[in-house]
Amino acid sequence: LNNGLALTPPMGWLTWERYRCITDCKKYPDECISEALIKRTADLMVSEGYLAAGYDYLGIDDCWLEKERGPDGRLVPDRERFPNGMKAVGDYIHSKGLKFGLYEDYGNLTCAGYPGVLGNEQLDIDTFVEWGVDYIKLDGCYVDEAQMDEGYPAYGKMLNQTGRPILYSCSWPAYQEDYNVKKKHIFTPDYESISRHCNLWRNWGDIDDSWSSMKEIMTWFGDNQDRFAHFAGPGNWNDPDMLLIGNFGLSVDQARVQMAVWSVLAAPLLMSTDLANMRDEFKEILLNKDIIAVNQDPMGKQGLRVFKNNQTKISVWNRQLHDGSNALAFVSEREDGSPRSYSFSFSQMQLPQNSYRVQDLYHLEDDRILKSMEDFEVRINPTGKYLHYIPISPLDKLN
Ligand code: DGJ
Repeated sequence: LNNGLALTPPMGWLTWERYRCITDCKKYPDECISEALIKRTADLMVSEGYLAAGYDYLGIDDCWLEKERGPDGRLVPDRERFPNGMKAVGDYIHSKGLKFGLYEDYGNLTCAGYPGVLGNEQLDIDTFVEWGVDYIKLDGCYVDEAQMDEGYPAYGKMLNQTGRPILYSCSWPAYQEDYNVKKKHIFTPDYESISRHCNLWRNWGDIDDSWSSMKEIMTWFGDNQDRFAHFAGPGNWNDPDMLLIGNFGLSVDQARVQMAVWSVLAAPLLMSTDLANMRDEFKEILLNKDIIAVNQDPMGKQGLRVFKNNQTKISVWNRQLHDGSNALAFVSEREDGSPRSYSFSFSQMQLPQNSYRVQDLYHLEDDRILKSMEDFEVRINPTGKYLHYIPISPLDKLN
């Protein structure tokens, strides 16, 4: 969507993956979807260096609403959990130099059963503008998928007419793709139209807090990349869903895989984790400035899975960067022990024959020269889940 926003993939934090629909603040005061959680997270995004690293959107996903609209027909945030209303939340977020993201659903109800926007689109957009919302995630539960091809663009047009710059995140293709087996009709998402009308779009199913969920998403993105990867670019991004890094399910190596593959995919980097209880090794991954620079490369070209071997369970992902270099991610899905070495030819990595300086962005001291015609050897960790992440820049003159 050409609205001047998201010229590089959006970065930020969103409640859903870690906090889901926790609404009982008596039992879970630190985890319920509430003003307190948002304020605490805003403070930590600044004090712990996330904002400085580029994570500037702070978003509330589902479960922030009262079950009924107010007497004036307006959406009402949960009165106990957001006692000062949403404008106050927006003001607090802005006072920290962050931007305010909010979730709604295009249907009658949100997925968790709170009021959706259908039938009240304009009124709700006016309300969001009053609250200072900078980012809308529009989900697609309780909507006929056939209606989405017109509904999502129409909603985007209304957002645009407000004059307030509002980033538009659409779940439109996620509901039209085939991951939901219960669905009666399967549609073929029109990614050309989606990329013209949305800044980012969820392509597929929700990520859960596990390596297996992440693997499924990576496999699906690799298998289907030819249908949508080329629609990514400044203003438009495919979204494989939130980062799990810092939560319960991923090892440190697996977290490195996610950060690297998501960066090669030019994916939005939306954390969803408890910033107050973050282990240093996860924090280091989220704040790795060299990898963030790959994600934020100004050319905005999405990388592709260029190599996959089902027997060795190794894949290679390659993204072209604006300065003529490439970022490569090597992923092992092996589950047996011991690091293993693999060699890749230039054609397997889909790199032009050249000589290169190679650096591992997770271990900058691993800095080597790769001569043209030489195979490239990488040693990939055990636990099956290690990634070796390497930017490669051509060297004109090598002795
Ligand atoms: C489905 C979406 O895909 C999730 O990311 C989350 O927003 C939930 N709905 C909320 O109900």
